Amino acid sequence: MFTGLLHLHNLLRYAIVILLVIALIKSFAGWFGKKEYTAADNKISLFLLISAHLQLLIGLGLYFISPVVKEAMTDMGAAMKDAVLRFWATEHLSAMILGIILITLGRIMGKKGKNDTAKFRRQAIYFLLATVLIFSAIPWPWAEMGIARPWF
Ligand code: HEM
Repeated sequence: MFTGLLHLHNLLRYAIVILLVIALIKSFAGWFGKKEYTAADNKISLFLLISAHLQLLIGLGLYFISPVVKEAMTDMGAAMKDAVLRFWATEHLSAMILGIILITLGRIMGKKGKNDTAKFRRQAIYFLLATVLIFSAIPWPWAEMGIARPWF
């Protein structure tokens, strides 16, 4: 069960990364190019929201069964002094939850924009902040040992 969820969580990362980058580029292009907010723009932000919320559910499930989180929980004081345990017990979870909140706000506030430029501008700002947070907390293969995870 743990391995299956972990693989799913790993693969869903790509859907989020790709959708987030597309939504970000389209939001900035729409904002500065004063473009029309189309049904396609709405669909991209909707799929991004759905993938991010699904990832949150899988992540929460993983959090309660992860061996590395369990190890951290046995002594949180000591875990906070260990970069790897701290990353898995607190940093990954909090940065990702904040990132997902920003994606949700980007979608909601974007839709409330008075005109198409305002919609794109709001989305662009929230999605940019979400991208910075999420990209900073992904366990990329070049991260330090214990945090780094393979591409697939
Ligand atoms: C945009 C959101 C997220 C992305 C892109 C993401 C990405 C990843 C990636 C790439 C891995 C490594 C997978 C592997 O080893 O194959 C991972 C592991 C993990 N993530 Fe996330 N994650 C996200 C959100 C969350 C959230 C919200 C939580 C908790 C509430 C969470 C908890 C975990 C846990 C517990 C692990 C596994 C640690 C272990 O190996 O035991 N993730 N995540």
